[in-house]
Amino acid sequence: MKIGIFSDIHSNSEAINSVLKNIKEVDKFICLGDIVGYGADPNYCIEKIKDLNCRCIGGNHDFAVVGKVNINYFNYAARTAILWTSNQLKKENFNFLLNLKKKFELEDSVLAVHGSPQNPLLEYILDKDTASLIFNKFDFKIYFVGHSHLAGCFSFNKNTNQIDYINFSNGGCIEINKNKRYIINCGSVGQPRDGNPKASYGIYDQKNEIVNIYRVSYPINLTQDKIFNAGLPRNLAYRLSYGR
Ligand SMILES: [Fe+2]
Repeated sequence: MKIGIFSDIHSNSEAINSVLKNIKEVDKFICLGDIVGYGADPNYCIEKIKDLNCRCIGGNHDFAVVGKVNINYFNYAARTAILWTSNQLKKENFNFLLNLKKKFELEDSVLAVHGSPQNPLLEYILDKDTASLIFNKFDFKIYFVGHSHLAGCFSFNKNTNQIDYINFSNGGCIEINKNKRYIINCGSVGQPRDGNPKASYGIYDQKNEIVNIYRVSYPINLTQDKIFNAGLPRNLAYRLSYGR
């Protein structure tokens, strides 16, 4: 089984469509949250996820839009987009976000969560100390996470206790080793922040125990025009050009 992994689409229809055009030979899809927020196409992106029959968890933006996370956790631009999104959503799409879970087990030893297993909505795994706490506190073999918008992988070597980090901002391949455990972020589809403006996604090949991370270009100028036309904070559009 090959599983396409999306996260942090952030209402960017051009990015998700370019990813779907590029992605091949996938049996099913999962989405690690933040379907909405920042961008101008929230209904379209939710409906795309529904059409794909994509198993999905909620992110902090998804839950803030439906009132399940306090918007004071967010900066001005994010808050503005959350309130705008809340007003745009069709009732059925609002209810779709409302009913999302915070995490699920993809298989026995593989957890899917937006932020981290100890704080699914709000914690960022950005350094080896945080990764170490998670490897010690929980015993999954692989964690697929989103939230930071940084494509990369922490690995924990069970024999040496060493933790390593590999940046995958230009894509790459992770061969799952039986002596290691992993926290894998396949990056953000709709608002990358790792310096590469291309949309990011992953494919988990369960049979061959490989995770590939890919980057795909998309028509950023169209996404930016929609953000300007919606009256959303302009910086949400500008930053897409830089992937920051
Ligand atoms: Fe996000």
